[in-house]
Amino acid sequence: MNIQDVFAAYREDLNLVEQSINAHVISEIKLIPEIAHHLIDSGGKRFRPLLLLICARLCGYRGKSRIPMATVMEFFHTATLLHDDVIDQASMRRGKASANQVFGNSVSILVGDFLSFKAFTLMTGIGRMDILKLISEMGKVMSEGEVFQLTKRGDIRMQQKDYLNIIERKTAVLISASCAAGAILASTSQEKIHALARFGTLIGMAFQITDDILDYTAPSKRFGKSLGKDLEEGKITLPLLFTIKNCSEEEKQRIREIISGRKISQKHMREIIGLINKYDAIDASMAIAATYLKKAKSQLKIFRDGPEKEHLKTVAEYVITRKE
Ligand code: IPE
Ligand code: IPE
Ligand code: MG
Ligand code: MG
Repeated sequence: MNIQDVFAAYREDLNLVEQSINAHVISEIKLIPEIAHHLIDSGGKRFRPLLLLICARLCGYRGKSRIPMATVMEFFHTATLLHDDVIDQASMRRGKASANQVFGNSVSILVGDFLSFKAFTLMTGIGRMDILKLISEMGKVMSEGEVFQLTKRGDIRMQQKDYLNIIERKTAVLISASCAAGAILASTSQEKIHALARFGTLIGMAFQITDDILDYTAPSKRFGKSLGKDLEEGKITLPLLFTIKNCSEEEKQRIREIISGRKISQKHMREIIGLINKYDAIDASMAIAATYLKKAKSQLKIFRDGPEKEHLKTVAEYVITRKE
């Protein structure tokens, strides 16, 4: 089984989610759907809705709230992308000019806010306090992650534990909540909700580590984002952390110089990639992602064998082999 088979198994539901997304980005203020559609219509994997649908089905839920709940997860994700591209001064997203580039920073932020509030409105329709609790906590933690990341920008003394803390907050909690919300809708046992939340956190960690590797190594076209962006922003991710840990004092000094410089040229980029390769930092980062994956899969032990469990295992594998 590969990831396409998994998406195919949920195609009908995913189509309903797509309809629901389109139905809920409407506003009398026409610029709002225009900007939202700019991003929503340009692709995106719909990875978080997929996880929600799998986890709901795994726990025996087929009720109608799965569709608005999957919409909620994609709305939060879309909002964070709009905000993230402003913060990172990105110019490309999903293979197109990013919303901040086309429409400007201010409206991108505000449309991100619109989508987050819209998501809360949808959740009041679902009417579950436990879900509101999960998602509001998630939003708080994600904001903390983004702010903490900013405070570490350009700091080459940053520790691996800080990096892991950042990625858990900014990325893994949303993926975790997508899994947990599916289980909560099913009103399954706390043990199962907890196992799926943990599964989501662990694959979320691997997902962001992979993203950070791809930022250095991806074929740009397929990735849909500019490469070398993290370095340009002074964002120190796992491949660079490994390099800094293992390189000589002189090399470390050179990395510090490049990161603190005003502009990072192609030549600087090649120099850094040279060091990353010299210290096998991509492989070392992949090995860390693989350990998260292994732990993630072990969370599934408490579930009976069946198609949905296979789907989650396939998704987990995909997270570290993906190229887009
Ligand atoms: C991008 O998420 C942001 C990260 C957490 C790395 P995705 O890779 O899921 O983005 P889309 O939705 O497929 O574009
Ligand atoms: C991912 O951060 C987390 C969020 C989008 C909130 P990145 O800055 O690595 O994401 P990309 O690479 O721009 O998608
Ligand atoms: Mg970014
Ligand atoms: Mg990235």
